[in-house]
Amino acid sequence: MCGLIGYVGRRADRNVQEVLLDGLSSLEYRGYDSAGMAVSNSSLAVYKREGDLSALEGALPDEPLDGVAGIGHTRWSTHGSPSDANAHPHTDCTGRVAVAHNGIIDNYRALRESLETDGHEFDSETDTEVIPHLIESALERGDDAETAFRWAIDRLEGSYAVAATYAGHETVYAARNRSPLVVGIDDDGYFLASDVPAFLEYTDAVTYLDDGHVASIRPSGVEITDERGACVDVSVETVEWEPEDAGKSGYEHYTLKEIHEQPRAIRNCLRGRPQELTGDVSIDALEDVERPDRIQFVACGTSYHASLYGARLFRERSVPATAFLASEYDADAVPVDDGTLVVGVTQSGETADTLRALRDANRAGATTLAVTNVVGSSAPRETDHAMYIRAGPEIGVAATKTFVTQQVALAMLSSGLTGERSREVVAALRDLPDRIQSVLDESRARTIASEYAAADAYFVIGRGYSAPVALEGALKMKEITYKHAEGFPAGELKHGPLALVTERTPVFAVISRDSNAETMLGNVNEVASRGAPVIAVTDASEAVAADVDHVLRIPETHRRFTPILANVQLQLVSYWMANQLDRSIDKPRNLAKSVTVE
Ligand code: M6R
Repeated sequence: MCGLIGYVGRRADRNVQEVLLDGLSSLEYRGYDSAGMAVSNSSLAVYKREGDLSALEGALPDEPLDGVAGIGHTRWSTHGSPSDANAHPHTDCTGRVAVAHNGIIDNYRALRESLETDGHEFDSETDTEVIPHLIESALERGDDAETAFRWAIDRLEGSYAVAATYAGHETVYAARNRSPLVVGIDDDGYFLASDVPAFLEYTDAVTYLDDGHVASIRPSGVEITDERGACVDVSVETVEWEPEDAGKSGYEHYTLKEIHEQPRAIRNCLRGRPQELTGDVSIDALEDVERPDRIQFVACGTSYHASLYGARLFRERSVPATAFLASEYDADAVPVDDGTLVVGVTQSGETADTLRALRDANRAGATTLAVTNVVGSSAPRETDHAMYIRAGPEIGVAATKTFVTQQVALAMLSSGLTGERSREVVAALRDLPDRIQSVLDESRARTIASEYAAADAYFVIGRGYSAPVALEGALKMKEITYKHAEGFPAGELKHGPLALVTERTPVFAVISRDSNAETMLGNVNEVASRGAPVIAVTDASEAVAADVDHVLRIPETHRRFTPILANVQLQLVSYWMANQLDRSIDKPRNLAKSVTVE
């Protein structure tokens, strides 16, 4: 989705244009189809281009733009096709004010009609362009820059993170409503962004804007005011991520780097939580949460697959638990009371569908918990409790290390909230990073990927704890190889999907020694007898080898965690297949990292 960056500063060694370009390049992973920037001096210099950042860079003058304040934007089209005219920033009729915006202005048609009646001329098809024209009307009435910005923002309905800069001013104004916006604070400069990686190379000191607050960012400092204009005291937090976490560290793709970071990510996720001596799990900030009567998970995409896994863990511990696709969750249609815990699982903490579901759950009287990766994002700010998965920044659009840390976090949550004491489980959790490392070191996934990269479609099957991983394995294949792939609980095959199985549809079967090996082998034989090549992902290679074409081995672990290891093999197969097919692995077509519209 769209990315936003702003910078105000006077450092001689830090040119505004360069800071904005660096920020835009760090935001590329969110997905975009055009980019632009505006730098304020005595007049506004606005450059924007359809296409990737190189198109924008090609359009900029040889000499860097001169100025103290600027805003930049990567656009992912919603209103109007990708084009130079629809790219942000947008300006008013006089070119005095430039605005960049993430989100959707629901009432833009009515605003545009009224502005056009008043004589304003629009250059784009976007919802965003109403904002500079609203500001222009207020300036014409005699409002000062800040008052005009506030007045315009007050007219907007919808979700937005907005940044504006004016010709002849050294200020960037910003406001948000249900869309992320974070301010970065350095000794001699101030940043504004939709996402921390945009300025992480300059500063790790941040403050998060609340809905309704307005930030005025000047070379002399940042002032944050509430709806009535009164100054707000804000706390400055330190982001624990390192700038190199957001780099590729020599890997060809972020996605491969992030797959290889999984042992470290899990160690971070576990830090201080499982207690080896007693076998229990204590989760910081959740000490006062009691065992719930029932749990409802709300999540999308990969996070939904982690939730399916989490719900099963709770059910096994005798807590009724259901995972809902957040976009389908209706708090009025399911039992919700004060014994209900609604858990939003969301890497970004900004997914619009998940936030909507959590808000409904809050309204219905549930206790709410966010399981997220991003400190300060909307989900933990809007829920009663938060648990961080501590995966570090994930730049690849396809979730990899955040899925595995979501699974580990939910495994700990299920032990922690149900008071489980099991040294066996805790020891298995502790061993997971080494087990994953051995999968990474010894995987034959690359060979399998090259053997089957030309197939028509792929199926991934699993049972019990492995069924969610079958869904996730197929999602990863779709996302980064652009090949058709479907995941099924293996028992469902013969109820329909078997009709699609041919000798050109390889089937990946996750087979766990401790839980379902024999039944799974029955399902394997169903597809093998229709000619499909079968690749077993298993900790029982000797037992299954005779029934399948290939084995991708995983080490033994507690049966709850077998799917965590199996998933790593499936990630590697998808990655190497996509690599062989020369796909845009880190930024798959049509996809965005953070989906901030419903
Ligand atoms: O940030 P979230 O975890 O809420 O994102 C949810 C989905 O958009 C996300 O998991 C998506 O499915 C990923 N691209 C999967 O790789």
